[in-house]
Amino acid sequence: MLPNMHDADPIPAEARIEIDRLLQSGDLFRYTAPQDAPVALLEREFSAFMGAKYALAVSSCSAALFLSLEALNLPKGGRVMIPGFTFAAVPSSVIHAGLVPVLCEVGENYRIDMADFAARLPQVDAVIVSHMRGHTSDMDAILTLCAKAGIPVIEDAAHSLGTTWHGRKIGTLGRVGCFSFQSYKLVNAGEGGILVTDDADLVARAVILSGAYEHAWTKHLSPGDNTAELEQAFARWQNKLPLYNLRMSNLSAAVIRPQIPHIDQRVASGRRNHDQVAAILSQSPWIEVPAKLPPEERAPDSLQFNLTGLSDAEVRAFVAAAEAEGVKVQVFGLSRDNARAYWNWQFLPEMPDLPRTRAMLMRACDTRLPARLTSADCDAVAAILMRAAEQAATPTRAYGT
Ligand SMILES: Cc1ncc(COP(=O)(O)O)c(C=O)c1O
Repeated sequence: MLPNMHDADPIPAEARIEIDRLLQSGDLFRYTAPQDAPVALLEREFSAFMGAKYALAVSSCSAALFLSLEALNLPKGGRVMIPGFTFAAVPSSVIHAGLVPVLCEVGENYRIDMADFAARLPQVDAVIVSHMRGHTSDMDAILTLCAKAGIPVIEDAAHSLGTTWHGRKIGTLGRVGCFSFQSYKLVNAGEGGILVTDDADLVARAVILSGAYEHAWTKHLSPGDNTAELEQAFARWQNKLPLYNLRMSNLSAAVIRPQIPHIDQRVASGRRNHDQVAAILSQSPWIEVPAKLPPEERAPDSLQFNLTGLSDAEVRAFVAAAEAEGVKVQVFGLSRDNARAYWNWQFLPEMPDLPRTRAMLMRACDTRLPARLTSADCDAVAAILMRAAEQAATPTRAYGT
């Protein structure tokens, strides 16, 4: 019997006491308490967990991406490279910031095609690396190329909380890293996001832009830290920036904070589950699970794999067979109006043709694989996917007659 793989994770019971306290006091706004509001505590705990100097909690990862772009003070109408495989909210954040998304090719292994990236880099003012579904592109090459060209890198780490590259946490490699607390992420608050950076000027701009009006920014100075650099940055930007009001509420912070101590365990369980199912699926002649890059330690809570040698009709038959047994699979490019298929982003000012990315999206399958699954659950999921592939492949090819 399969567990429900598709629901979000429950919130730890510890959250209830703090939520009750907040409901009784009505103190839901992050800037009411003189200090130590739940959102401020979350920022301190999250930046410590990530090993970053500063964190700013906001209403979503999309808001964090938008604020990062605004905080970088890019020229209006500037161009921002993003991978052709990401969620529609990412090009949307670029457009929201008055900038133009420039899409680059993504390979069969879901990672940025570095030749295409290098070719497009001279035409852009910034780069957002979406580590889509937690697959890390070649960050050594990206950071070297961008440093040489003087181009800032924003990491969209919405799916990469807990992933490391050469042992360093994803989200801390670029100038700024953005994370999501939307329900189907490793930490679930329904909605929410956070950005981390070591750059005092960037975070000061982002804090004010996010809605720290008047001198609310003083509540972003951590007691006991040397805050001179940050205070100077706030003074520099006082009254100079618009207020977009993308703040996080104390209630969201109360839901998120008790999950932070669980992140490492969730990462370990998610990786174990993923690798167990991937090892079984790799034995199918119809399924290929791309390997991770050597410096990368993944933190997956979902599984992606490519169907090989099957027609569109057979791929659809695979999806139907898996769903009939309780495992929902989406093929990004075949499901109608999918928000991760770039040709559906019809709001783009420039729509490129990305043949490699398109070919990948037509065969790339996606299913949730929550950390809470047991080893027996994982075997059951793998067996369903193996059977579905066998059934979907035509009898001629499956049985060699
Ligand atoms: C890769 C990626 N980046 C960014 C986002 C935006 O996250 P949020 O829903 O917190 O705005 C998402 C949303 O799922 C996403 O998949």
